[in-house]
Amino acid sequence: MEKDYKTIDKIVSLCKRRGFVFQSSEIYGGFSAVYDYGPYGIELKKNLSEAWWKSMVQKRMDVVGLDSGIFMHPKTWEASGHVGGFDDPQVDCRDCKNRMRVDHMLEEHGIEADKMKAEEINRAIEDLKKKGIELKCTNCGSKNLTPAKNFSLMVKSNLGSPTDELSEDNVVYLRPETCGGIYLNYKNILDSARVKIPFGIAQVGKAFRNEIIARQFIFRTREFEQMEMQYFVHPTQMQEKYDEWKKIRWNWYLGYGIKEENIQWHKHTKLAHYAAEAYDIEYNFTIFGGFKELEGIHQRGAWDLSQHSKFSGVELDYLDPKTNERYVPNILETSVGLNRMFLAFMNEAYTEEEVDGEMRVVLKFDRRIAPVKIAILPLLKNREELVVKAQDIYSELSEYYMCEFDESGTIGKRYRRQDEIGTPFCVTIDFDTIEKDNTVTVRDRDTMEQERIRVEDLKKYFAEKFNI
Ligand code: GAP
Repeated sequence: MEKDYKTIDKIVSLCKRRGFVFQSSEIYGGFSAVYDYGPYGIELKKNLSEAWWKSMVQKRMDVVGLDSGIFMHPKTWEASGHVGGFDDPQVDCRDCKNRMRVDHMLEEHGIEADKMKAEEINRAIEDLKKKGIELKCTNCGSKNLTPAKNFSLMVKSNLGSPTDELSEDNVVYLRPETCGGIYLNYKNILDSARVKIPFGIAQVGKAFRNEIIARQFIFRTREFEQMEMQYFVHPTQMQEKYDEWKKIRWNWYLGYGIKEENIQWHKHTKLAHYAAEAYDIEYNFTIFGGFKELEGIHQRGAWDLSQHSKFSGVELDYLDPKTNERYVPNILETSVGLNRMFLAFMNEAYTEEEVDGEMRVVLKFDRRIAPVKIAILPLLKNREELVVKAQDIYSELSEYYMCEFDESGTIGKRYRRQDEIGTPFCVTIDFDTIEKDNTVTVRDRDTMEQERIRVEDLKKYFAEKFNI
């Protein structure tokens, strides 16, 4: 098998064919950079989000959850520096009108430009020109590009306005990151949840960015979901807690089946003005040819609470009940896009294998995140006794697991179908089940081994397999 057989085309096609991910508004010709999640996609996304929540909130005594609104007071984004400051540098091709992220183009020449303003970027482009290097359109190869300019990523909307016009009075923003809602609720949570520093607040929710280019399937989209956790510490605890959280997040990926050689740290050299240290966990997106940012783990200092305190006029500090020290907590965050994580797990799980001279495609997901856990397959669909027995087993197991009932096609075809969506186990009900010993065949997705299990033992058997 070729080493780089995992291609983006194969993943996109599998996602569509098997109902994981669809292009938004397809019947209208599609809507750029927005995707819809089909029956298996929603299960995978939900399982990933629940796995994250379990580790970040459920199993931790020091982290609580939150679900804040997407719309917030417009001042929120002035305070955070997003209004007027959250933009990406773009260039346009004068020949084919292609729009490009110029910081990404500079990255290929070893220049980290994502925090640079347009003027700095234009200077960097001039410096490259002096060395004989000219940027080219990524679409048509033309060197006829506009100078770089900044393009705001904030998505604007209006609320409660009698007209459709956006004016300064009614403009609201769709949040570009979920953490804003966490800062605005810091005081509510402090006052209501009996938390003591160090503690964290976690949130999963939609975020919106007017991305210039979003042509990498669900890697970068204009509407996406973030899973963020903001951890509040005394400034002297920052480094210790930061190192701890870096380890926790690294190990979380390994625990769910990401191979260690497929993740790496990337240290930011150009930091936001308030940040002391920032690392990304990069995943080896072989479908895009290499490592790309998956999750950010950032030290944000006292910036967020200080800014929101300044703009709102409300004190957002902390009184230590033991020492009586009053201070503005420092914050470290872990921030990952759920959709991007989905794609990383797809990339990791996608496997092609040769079996008996035929190629099988199998998604080798960790059992806990597989969209369907058990497929229930009556051997023949026109034999009522088999179908009824299979329905009974479905009723019993679906109480505990996401199951799928499939009676169409040969059993071999049905196994392949389940392999392609990553179902860890198939249960086949045949004539021996009915006539002989009340046993079924259980087939393991990865080893393809089959064993006979008594129907009355299935619950216990799967409890062991799924470790519950
Ligand atoms: N609160 C910090 C923050 O939002 P970020 O580096 O801009 O930091 C964090 O985003 C993570 O959110 C990224 O590592 C990525 O996983 C995800 N993300 C950001 N923009 C995205 C987009 N347009 N589409 C999909 N995921 C995105």
